[in-house]
Amino acid sequence: MNRPIGVFDSGIGGLSVLKECVSRLPHEDFVYLADKANMPYGGKSCEQIKSAALYCADTLFGMNCKAIVIACNTATETAVEYIRELYKREIVIGLEPAVKPCFRELCSGEYGVALVTEATAKSRKFRALVDGCENRIIVSPQPELAELIERGADLGTLRAYVGRMLLPYRDAAAVALGCSHYSHIAPLVSEFYGGKVRIYDGALGAAARLETLLKESGEAASDGKGGVRFFSTEKKRTL
Ligand code: DGL
Repeated sequence: MNRPIGVFDSGIGGLSVLKECVSRLPHEDFVYLADKANMPYGGKSCEQIKSAALYCADTLFGMNCKAIVIACNTATETAVEYIRELYKREIVIGLEPAVKPCFRELCSGEYGVALVTEATAKSRKFRALVDGCENRIIVSPQPELAELIERGADLGTLRAYVGRMLLPYRDAAAVALGCSHYSHIAPLVSEFYGGKVRIYDGALGAAARLETLLKESGEAASDGKGGVRFFSTEKKRTL
């Protein structure tokens, strides 16, 4: 029970997921791995993303983690099945773009926008998710946004980017944040719509699923101080 839980993303995006996990499971120890060497995942091929995600999963399970959370929509859409196949007996949680709840809660005449990376937009798993939404979810792939956020672009730059990005969808009723990096700009999305938009983020669902599976498997820690250790990959690896 005292084994840690591993959480990974290509960079700081998954911190929003980590935060939800820590607040639900305060007695657990977490290990966070930012795969900075391979950031951005969103512009990579399927094979490259699978290889990067597997490296992170191997590293975290190699650190004796009792579960891992793929705190990245791109890696989940592309590689979660591959990793689960290789780690059949382990708990592997993915981060799904919150397109389903976004679609379910649309009123008549409303539509929503899903902001995702290019790789997520192309992935078969994500296409299947959107195909079930009766053309009421518009997919908007963003090739640069995750990197802008990762390198800590200033508020003015991000606000201008968000304004350009959302202008074509200014009458949308809902926005699904389909990349964990985008959680960091949720306040700017809300600001663009004057607070009149529903914002959906998959982080809550991933944290809830983690809690459920840990409890079901008898692996949840019920005491302990809890804590987080941070690691990152820095050197370029050949994918
Ligand atoms: N944060 C990741 C996601 O949720 C991907 C960002 C990137 O590396 O392109 O999709």
